[in-house]
Amino acid sequence: MKATILPTPTDLTIVPRDRRFGRETATPRLWHGGSVEATAIYNALSTTFPTGEAFFVESVRKFREGAPPKLAQEIQAFTTQEAIHSREHDAFNRRAADAGYDLSKLEARVERRLAVTRSKPPIVSLGATMALEHFTAILAHQLLANPRHLEGGERQTADLWRWHACEEIEHKGVAYDTWLYATRDWPRWKRWKVKAKVMLYVTRNFLVDRTSGALELMRQDGVTGLEAWRRLLWYLWVRPGMFRKIAGAWGKFFLPGFHPWNEDDRHLLKAYDASAIGLAEPKRKVRRAA
Ligand SMILES: [Fe+2]
Ligand SMILES: [Fe+2]
Repeated sequence: MKATILPTPTDLTIVPRDRRFGRETATPRLWHGGSVEATAIYNALSTTFPTGEAFFVESVRKFREGAPPKLAQEIQAFTTQEAIHSREHDAFNRRAADAGYDLSKLEARVERRLAVTRSKPPIVSLGATMALEHFTAILAHQLLANPRHLEGGERQTADLWRWHACEEIEHKGVAYDTWLYATRDWPRWKRWKVKAKVMLYVTRNFLVDRTSGALELMRQDGVTGLEAWRRLLWYLWVRPGMFRKIAGAWGKFFLPGFHPWNEDDRHLLKAYDASAIGLAEPKRKVRRAA
């Protein structure tokens, strides 16, 4: 029996929300409710965004040529959203550096990983982007669906993460649809095999790199050794347990007929947009990026 794939909804329009966060007040060093481990893991994640999202854009845009008009349009809006995310996380990372964190080791690690992927054919970069965008989308879903994750966070910084999460959900089908388009002539088995291999590879790197990055930042706050491991693993896997809570959604990626929009979670976007009324936002229009 052929599995049903629910594609990207036809009435979805990706509209960048050009917002700025945290420019007026200094961000406290332990912005996440004074918690060393919570601050560390979000800061470690943020360190990856400016270069990581530029890489996503570069990888997807290589396959824009000849794409169906709707997809080409979505790639354009995706590009704009990611460019604005990079800008805001770059500003956030500078505030973390101003608060005394040394992010250089974490940044160097991201660069090393990207250099390995860039040395391979462009389809590998697109595959890695497609897998990481799914990863980002399920993290984003969990972040918006469960307020506990950002509980106690400094308001502007928590807003930054919610805004980013919202747009990650909105454009979650773009890299996947580009991948489907780029591999349209591949046999189904080959497509699945490559997709699964890439997901396992990026997941391993994601878990290893973000854990070691968070441990490095915790060390800079004087929390080391077994105590650091215990607190971080508890935070990630038990309470609030972000990684445990996304495990089911992660596994769905390997099922036949998977598509990111098989789960239509636009109610989270609506709820976010309703809650963000009043946040500074110049215009809801697509700016042309590069
Ligand atoms: Fe993003
Ligand atoms: Fe994204």
